[in-house]
Amino acid sequence: MGTQLQNILDNNAGRGRESLIHILQEVQEQQGYLSQEAVIEIGAHLKLPTSKIYGVATFYNQFRFKPFGQYHIQVCRGTACHVKGSASVLNTLQQELKIKAGETTRDGLFSIEVVACIGACGLAPVISINGEFFAGVDNAATRKILKKYKRSAKKQEVENA
Ligand code: FES
Repeated sequence: MGTQLQNILDNNAGRGRESLIHILQEVQEQQGYLSQEAVIEIGAHLKLPTSKIYGVATFYNQFRFKPFGQYHIQVCRGTACHVKGSASVLNTLQQELKIKAGETTRDGLFSIEVVACIGACGLAPVISINGEFFAGVDNAATRKILKKYKRSAKKQEVENA
């Protein structure tokens, strides 16, 4: 078991099942997602079956069960971005990558997360990839951006081969 996970469980020692959500949030904050190993350990700690933990965690869409992709895409769905067409941008991303928001592609390259206003409303609609912002994106721009990242992933692959 990871030390970080052990620390979280130790800090919550003596607390009962009511601490489940809190523990899940802490683990996700530390590890970026809820690994199967973590869910099993939390279950052992709280004396809860893992199926129950998955049941609770999947009910809340704040929890994820896979790590972020190499390129983590945040799509702003705040009001300004919504008005300027962020729903369509999100759809394009989901179609192109064949995943839904909250998921990671099978090759681990991309993940999509929907976020609330990221504070750049004047640039709406905005997406960010690993912290790099793209302003005023439409569907065509979104496809272009993805192509660019796919190309650089391929290039990296060749260089590392
Ligand atoms: S609503 Fe998207 S940046 Fe503010």
